Amino acid sequence: MANISIGIDIGGTGIKGALVDVKTGTIVGERLRVETPPGGRPDDIAQVVKSLIKILDPKQKAHSVGICFPAVVQHGVTMSAANVSEEWINLNADALFTKVVGRNVHVINDADAAGVAEMKFGVGRKEAGLTIMTTLGTGIGTALFIDGELVPNTELGHLEIDGVDYETKAAFAAKEREELSWEEWAERLQCYYSTLEALFTPDLFIVGGGVSKDHEFFLPLLSLRAKIVPAMLKNNAGIIGAARVASKNIK
Ligand code: BGC
Repeated sequence: MANISIGIDIGGTGIKGALVDVKTGTIVGERLRVETPPGGRPDDIAQVVKSLIKILDPKQKAHSVGICFPAVVQHGVTMSAANVSEEWINLNADALFTKVVGRNVHVINDADAAGVAEMKFGVGRKEAGLTIMTTLGTGIGTALFIDGELVPNTELGHLEIDGVDYETKAAFAAKEREELSWEEWAERLQCYYSTLEALFTPDLFIVGGGVSKDHEFFLPLLSLRAKIVPAMLKNNAGIIGAARVASKNIK
């Protein structure tokens, strides 16, 4: 099944997976979700991923396995750990998953995966110029595209504004933690996106993460020169992007 790959999206709270048609960017069959093991340690997560893949593709017919993860991922090595176990720092995640799962696995950053999916199959299709995809969740993930080409691992969620790592103020988790109203949260988002705009002058911002389904409560409150639009693929973007990138990278 050359056009079917497995996509797995690892997050701080849940691990999601599905088979993906990488030509059309659609999920094939059921999408599974399990809780992330407490502590988020590499070996525990790898075991969960292994069992998910067994259920999704028992006969090993899918072309490749792509995994996205909330860290800087350079050539398969996870280099950071913002909201996960520190054991991921400097770990060869490609090698770990490939060994545990017994199949070639390609790991990339979660926001990069979601961005690739949106640019190829979602709201960023055919967008020229500079696009910044942002995911608002436990942290803030970013993916930067020039004429549709990804510049990986931008990590602009950790932009320091007024001396603070701004994902701690403007991620969706901050809204929930501090019980901010939509208006209060939008003020912080305004500050965040204005800073990005001053630094990069993008043509388009795409806003993803689970909360993008409620975009009408906060996007209209923002005032920016660039267009700012909700992501289309919602919670499936990471799965679809990870599968797509793996299908291009694993022969
Ligand atoms: C991490 C990024 C990740 C983002 C969204 C940030 O804390 O540093 O690598 O993309 O969260 O999960």
